[in-house]
Amino acid sequence: MVLECRNVSKVYVNRKLGHGVVALNDINLTIAKNEFVCIIGPSGCGKSSLLHMIAGFERPTRGSIRLHNEEISGPSPERGVVFQESSLLPWKSVRENIEFGLAIQGCPRSERQDIAGRYLNIVGLQGFDHARPHELSGGMKQKVAIARTLALDPAILLMDEPFGALDEQTRKRLDFELLELWQQRQKTILFVTHSIEEAILLADRIILLTVRPGRIQLDLELSLPRPRNLFSKEVVEIRQQLLAELMLCCPPGQPV
Ligand SMILES: Nc1ncnc2c1ncn2[C@@H]1O[C@H](COP(=O)(O)OP(=O)(O)OP(=O)(O)O)[C@@H](O)[C@H]1O
Ligand SMILES: [Mg+2]
Repeated sequence: MVLECRNVSKVYVNRKLGHGVVALNDINLTIAKNEFVCIIGPSGCGKSSLLHMIAGFERPTRGSIRLHNEEISGPSPERGVVFQESSLLPWKSVRENIEFGLAIQGCPRSERQDIAGRYLNIVGLQGFDHARPHELSGGMKQKVAIARTLALDPAILLMDEPFGALDEQTRKRLDFELLELWQQRQKTILFVTHSIEEAILLADRIILLTVRPGRIQLDLELSLPRPRNLFSKEVVEIRQQLLAELMLCCPPGQPV
């Protein structure tokens, strides 16, 4: 499997104002099966737009996005998404939210109970099985959304700052769990983050986008063994390199 973005641009047109925002400009990217790719770049540079197009929720304005040599024309269970603010079904419990997609896929009741239990543990929500979304904190809701997507075991995971709203400890634990899962289950992951450290800990490859309209500023392969130590000489050097590149592509005062 190869995911290929060829000359992808995205323009959002505001019909009222009569002009558009160019979110992404001429993105060329080839992602191999089982690659773990992190995407970083300044706020508003089109990272979410890129993931939405790969998810099949949006179409590129120009260019093409192909998977298995076929143009992506809509969402598919093969591509699981966890977005910045994922929404849950408010009338269903935590457990029912996690089991819902599995039930739709025809997974038998006992099997989906096992799977849901496993992912409830992974995200640390044991004991909240029967809570409704409105009884959870923002971070807990996000954990349910993560568990719901992971439970479906998609071949490709599209994750848009999935742990951004979580506390540092939980984020580190989920980073670790995600790496384990990726190593065991051979997934292709596209992971957007604002954290250089998180990207270095996780990725095979880091794609840095410029300020809007986003273009690829740097495509960096990381061949360091895992688990990675943030204080090792190699990692410190890569951090410095990424910070320097970020300064080049992001004017002062702009959030990264
Ligand atoms: N549905 C939409 N309609 C109109 N404009 C949009 C839409 N989605 C995104 N945009 C615009 O496209 C640009 C890129 O947005 P996008 O959400 O892709 O950025 P981002 O890199 O994910 O930013 P952040 O890091 O803040 O999440 C922004 O200027 C945004 O206003
Ligand atoms: Mg975004």
